[in-house]
Amino acid sequence: TRRFLQIAGLSAAALLLAACGKKEEAPAPAPVASAPAPAPAKVYVVGTDAAYAPFESQNEKGEIVGFDIEVVQAIAKKAGFEVKFVNTPWEGIFNALGQGDRDLVVSAVTITEERKGTMDFSAPYFDAQQLIAVKETSKVSKFADLKKLKVGVQTGTTGDEAVTKLQGKTSTNIKRFESTPLALKELEAGGVDAVVADNGVVIHYVANNPGGKFKTVADKEFVPEQYGIAVKKGNTELLEKINKGLADIKADGTYDQIFTKYFGAPPAKAEAAA
Ligand code: ARG
Repeated sequence: TRRFLQIAGLSAAALLLAACGKKEEAPAPAPVASAPAPAPAKVYVVGTDAAYAPFESQNEKGEIVGFDIEVVQAIAKKAGFEVKFVNTPWEGIFNALGQGDRDLVVSAVTITEERKGTMDFSAPYFDAQQLIAVKETSKVSKFADLKKLKVGVQTGTTGDEAVTKLQGKTSTNIKRFESTPLALKELEAGGVDAVVADNGVVIHYVANNPGGKFKTVADKEFVPEQYGIAVKKGNTELLEKINKGLADIKADGTYDQIFTKYFGAPPAKAEAAA
């Protein structure tokens, strides 16, 4: 009996030790005996290059805000998942998605055939087109006029692609910036003759920087673009949730409400006015 008690005592001590050891690893353990809590809603990490107002930018409090942000928040609410936005530099944004550091990317991303090779896109959620920004005094009246001029673009954007196609891959007149606002600041400073970027962002920047004395030049030569929400290639489970949520917010008027908040009129009217 004595030996049994000793063994029992030892194993009790061992159990205690094991329990203590476990406690240190997990500082906030759930009470062992209680029923398992309901699984919390999945939190998806959303990458966005938040220097792209009005689609995504940081407010004075450092919060990430904008049209894209509200669209994704509305989709998440409908689809029953949670989202956490993480400011992510444009140049690394698709790598972060591919490596699983971000579950989705919303960043005014144009759906292109090339990108479709390395990521999957939701249904389109916004129509866009490239737009030229120049100084008020500029003689530029069409895209072809930029053939021999110094042009600022954001690296790796569809604006970069368009200008690279116009001037040729070896052109030394393309100045590439890590953000579109930096390219526009260079235009203001006189370091480039023009900037080519998404219309919504150019219009927003010009309107909010009257001191820059900019004007915009549109050209039908630019191919129409559409923004999509990107997920890692093959993540059909998340993509289906997003597409369902997007369809739902379009059907119930939420999408139009967000659109009107940012662009002054619901989508159809905004298009007719453009
Ligand atoms: N729509 C363009 C593209 O996909 C530019 C997007 C840049 N977005 C951003 N948040 N900086 O290439």
